[in-house]
Order: sequence, then C-alpha cells, then structure tokens
Amino acid sequence: MRAAAVARPESGRTVRHRSERAILRVMPTPDRPRILPGDDPGSIAIAASQLRAGGLVVFPTETVYGLGANALDALAVARVFAAKERPAFDPLIVHLADASSVALYALSEDADDPRVARLAGRFWPGPLTLVLRKRAIIPGIVTAGLPTVGLRVPDHPVARALIRAAGIPVAAPSANRFGGLSPTRVAHVMAGLGSRVDLVLDGGPCHVGVESTVVLLAAGRAVLLRPGGLAVEAIEAEIGPLEVPDDGAPGTAELAPGRAGAHYAPRAPLELADPRDPAAAAAFAVHRGERVGLLAASDAGRAAAEVIGGPFAAVEVLDRDGDPVGAAARLFDALHALDAAELSRIVAEPIPDSGLGRAVMDRLRRAARGAPDGGGAPSVSR
Ligand code: TXA
Ligand code: MG
Repeated sequence: MRAAAVARPESGRTVRHRSERAILRVMPTPDRPRILPGDDPGSIAIAASQLRAGGLVVFPTETVYGLGANALDALAVARVFAAKERPAFDPLIVHLADASSVALYALSEDADDPRVARLAGRFWPGPLTLVLRKRAIIPGIVTAGLPTVGLRVPDHPVARALIRAAGIPVAAPSANRFGGLSPTRVAHVMAGLGSRVDLVLDGGPCHVGVESTVVLLAAGRAVLLRPGGLAVEAIEAEIGPLEVPDDGAPGTAELAPGRAGAHYAPRAPLELADPRDPAAAAAFAVHRGERVGLLAASDAGRAAAEVIGGPFAAVEVLDRDGDPVGAAARLFDALHALDAAELSRIVAEPIPDSGLGRAVMDRLRRAARGAPDGGGAPSVSR
C-alpha cells in the first residue's frame, strides 16, 4: 500500500511521481507548514503523496479539520499522537473514500451486519463513525490496542479527493492538541499545531462544526459512544434504540476511551447557567476586576443574560434564533474567540438536549469539567 515510490510496469524501474518530487520542494520550514488551497487538484496530489510518504496532512472535513496520516503506517500514526500530545489509549478514526472499503478493514461478521449497510447507505458520506471489529491490517496503534476500529466516510470534497488520490485509509483525529478545542478553520489549526504538521489543505470553515457521531456496532451491539454531527434520533429511526453508556459507569472507559476525561476545554473556566433561572443569577454577575465572557444560545438568551448580569468582556451568540444546527456549526468558532479574549471565566447558556443540541451540550459539559489532567484548562495556544 505504501507508494512513496512506485514501479512503472512498462520500464520495470522504480521512479518517483512528479508530484512526489514536488514534495521535496514543499518540505515544511521548521516553524511554518505549507498551506495549500484544498480545491486545487495540484494541492491534492501533493498532499496525497505526502500522506503516502508517511507525512502528516491537515485536511478539512464537514465536521472539523482532521490531522491525517496513512492508517496502515504505524510510524506515521505515531507522529499523529506525538503532534497532538495525545495519550496512546485514545484511538483514531480511519477515514475512507467510500463504504465499499469497510470490508477491507472490518471483520466480515461486522462489515456484513445489515445495520452497517443501512447506516452507511443512509448517512455516508457524512458525520457518522461506525466502530466495528478490526482486521489485522489496521495497526494496533491506530485503535490504541482495541479490537475495534472507527470508520467514517467524510462528506467534504477535499477530504474525499485526498483519500481517493492517496489510495490509502487515512487515520485522523481532530487537528488540535489533546484536550483543546477542535478546529473548524485553518487559523485554529495553525494556532494549535502550527509547525508540527507537514502540510495543511485549506477548505474554509467546516459547515457541521462538531465532530462525527460515534456508534459501536460490533458483535451485535449498538452503543452511542459520542453524540455528534448526526442526530441520534436519525440513527435510531434506522436501526432502533442505541445503548447510551454512562460516563462514570464501569466498562465505559474501555468501550469509549475518548470519553474518559474532560475535553474541549477553553483556557478560562466555563460554567453552564440559564439566564432565565433566578437561582443561576449569581453566575451572570460580574465583579470588579473580572473579565467574564458570555456564550449565549440565542439573541434572546443574550438579552436575558445582559438584564440580570454583565457587562461581559466578550459575547458570542451560537445562533440568533437558537437553532441547534446553527449552534453546532458555530460552537468551536465561538469558543476559540472567547479563548482569545483573555477571560477570567465563561458563562454558557444551555441549549435543548435533542438533535444536534445533544452534541453541543456534550461538548459544553465536558468544557465545564475543565482540562483532561484536572489542571488549568488547556487550549489551542498551550
Ligand atoms: O468528525 C470527526 O469525527 C473528526 C474528523 C476529523 O473526522 N475526528 C475526530 O477524531 O473527532 P478524534 O480523534 O478527535 O475523536 C475520535 C473519537 C475519540 O473519542 C475516540 O476515543 C473515538 O472516536 N474512537 C475512535 N475509535 C474508537 C474505537 N475503536 N472504539 C471506541 N472509540 C473510538
Ligand atoms: Mg478530538
């Protein structure tokens, strides 16, 4: 599968692709990776070669930007963990160009599960990751030693062109440092990972804005491992109810290592409080010397918060009308903006826990728990 150099059948010689020679001219400078436009076929060819050669390529997906490496190359995947400072117990999602390659990477018992065909047929390409029992071809480092692998076909023309051109499955976590905010724009990627990657493909802002919904379908079970950009209700309408593990319950950490710690944390402590709840009024009161940021769910929420509290040093509104799809799309952008405002704390208005609101609330509750190590919250600028 590795094709940094390919054999030309007609000549019998091993030669480099022209685009691979081009890589040599785009080697990253120590402090600045190359950023190339994602909609240019030349950029895709260079990025695909970089992936095949074991490099790290940041690429846009419809959810968030991914930090990609050849999923079949354990060394390249190790560089992903190093760049993110991600603990080795947290497995990576493998991105595929289309559903037909699921059978290459998942055991046939799971790949042939009719629920897989049903969900893939209905929601791929799209923000859904299916966790299935893996074949041996997927190195253990990708799955953090788990017997299962997360597979997803992203719905973004740049991501799909890249995976197709590379001709390999692409392991990619969100392109942020571990525990920090996921990036929905190239500027977020650069602030967090900058010089640690070889190449960045720019595809503009990600339109879904929260990570994929992760569902385990191994061995006949159906478990929601992470609410995300595809509404749980839509999945349940296709295959029936999902088991929802409790974060603290025994066995949950083994099933879903990524859920174990707090996550998605901005630097300032974040608290959830409803400006319409008189008991929560204290959260909105700003004391002298404090710089408080407001993350409002809607214009109405902002107005309510400004009546009972403030003045706020920074305000972000997730969606003017409080629409959960709009809120998901703006969430990380808003958190990045608040993160940049040097705040002493952030107060966030909850949104209803259904549809994409469930993914938004999952991220906000984790942000409210602070850093994964329990210390001062980490951020992209750490
Ligand atoms: O939308 C997304 O899913 C983005 C884009 C880049 O595709 N990716 C992403 O990856 O969010 P990451 O690594 O930041 O989050 C992947 C989550 C982690 O919580 C991880 O623990 C879980 O998926 N996961 C991956 N493989 C798993 C497996 N075999 N078993 C259980 N959980 C798994
Ligand atoms: Mg992540």
